[in-house]
Amino acid sequence: MTSKTLAVAASLIASNFIIMAPTVVNASPPSTKDVTAVLFKSNYDSVARECARTLGTAGYGYVQVSPPAEHIQGSQWWTSYQPVSYKLAGRLGDRGFFLNMVKTCHSAGVRVIIDIVINQMTAGSGTGTGGSSYTKYNYPGLYSFYDFDDCTSQITNYVDRWNVQHCELVGLADLDTNEDYVRGAIAGYMNDLLSLGVDGFRIDAAKHTATEDLANMKSRLANSSVYWKQEVIYGAGEAVQPTEYTGNGDVQEFRYAFDLKPVFNNEKLAYLRNYGEGWGYMSSSVAGVFVDNHDTERNGETLRYKDNAKYTLATVFMLAYPYGAPDIKSGYEFSDTDAGPPYDGAVNACCQDSWKCQHAWPEIMRMVAFRNVVRGQGVTNWWDNGNNQIAFGWGNQGFVAINKEDSLLTQTLQTSLPAGKYCNVQSNSAVTVNSSGHFTATLGPNTALAIYAGKSSC
Ligand SMILES: *[C@@H]1O[C@H](CO)[C@@H](O)[C@H](O)[C@H]1NC(C)=O
Ligand SMILES: *[C@@H]1O[C@H](CO)[C@@H](O)[C@H](O)[C@H]1NC(C)=O
Repeated sequence: MTSKTLAVAASLIASNFIIMAPTVVNASPPSTKDVTAVLFKSNYDSVARECARTLGTAGYGYVQVSPPAEHIQGSQWWTSYQPVSYKLAGRLGDRGFFLNMVKTCHSAGVRVIIDIVINQMTAGSGTGTGGSSYTKYNYPGLYSFYDFDDCTSQITNYVDRWNVQHCELVGLADLDTNEDYVRGAIAGYMNDLLSLGVDGFRIDAAKHTATEDLANMKSRLANSSVYWKQEVIYGAGEAVQPTEYTGNGDVQEFRYAFDLKPVFNNEKLAYLRNYGEGWGYMSSSVAGVFVDNHDTERNGETLRYKDNAKYTLATVFMLAYPYGAPDIKSGYEFSDTDAGPPYDGAVNACCQDSWKCQHAWPEIMRMVAFRNVVRGQGVTNWWDNGNNQIAFGWGNQGFVAINKEDSLLTQTLQTSLPAGKYCNVQSNSAVTVNSSGHFTATLGPNTALAIYAGKSSC
């Protein structure tokens, strides 16, 4: 872009700030249930079935659905991160299936978040999954050459804001989101999804779109207080920082997931005592957290299902610990990191056909109900053995113990729970807390214990 358009853009940005300042921002998901099941690459029909069968009764507040817009052809999962139009014509189902999914999930008490790709369009040329033809920088009826940023080389320098936000992420055509027409087109796509009843968006690659541009798009929505969760990957010393985006909505705190990996692999769980803000992360009230996402389970930056008990225990910790709003990534087994989902996204049954269905693992799913009951207070009664055995309460409503050692944990623990019988929902066994709040925990190697108010029998 020219320096003249830059000057105009700067004044638009300035006035956006003035308009946006009084807007009430959702600091965390606007629900009493803050856990999202991310059903990565499940088709709409399968998401609907899972909302009705599992997510609603388990207490998930949200389900997150993979990008729905028309995209390039190919079996690889990442094809849906390369849109060619905003028609709902990806491979997960058509508009009818989409609408049915939203309605079914709502009936089950589960709100719907859509992962959307708005920073970029695809490169290359061809015909998309919905029949639209395209070439790089030209998507007939939607965008042409003028709607893209002037930098047509790849992003190479993360200490240079202009390079990060105007050049091309892995060579994909980068939309000029300073432009009024582009902002309107993207807002139009989001408004179309809102008209179908969706409750929120996960903004893919948000770091590569200026926060002012996203604020402008949000201000154009039919409901501008809809939930937003932005992907802004933290990098030390980088020009664009996650905290710049908190005025728009929640931001994914990648450090949370990055640091859980060494803690569970070769450091000490005792270090988790002040996890979250105590480790320099964003405020809990704006942070989206996860153990892994679809990128990091493939690139090795975080734990993933292949880590077995460590992965399960890290997820139990995340759900039991008061920081951020958790995502449970639920996907499929892979050896080839490019591989798309089994059966093009159709989940015939959970934990079959290489679908992992993490959202339905008993150790994970039962912690969603735990979290819904205990939310709202801080950590109490922390205990650790200085190594890999920890226990803590969440206020006076819940208590958890995690044994990530190869030996038995037998320990009398102090809780703030009322005296009585409880169900340890990790193993469906009984626990009795006495009138001074004590109980004796016995945990096998690499297992956890979780008890909470109101759950007296299994
Ligand atoms: C707008 O979205 C918020 C957050 O999801 C919701 O609570 C509210 O009811 C919505 N308003 C309308 C008019 O749909
Ligand atoms: C509860 O159990 C603890 C640990 O065994 C014990 O020290 C305490 O005296 C008990 N409290 C009561 C009121 O029995």
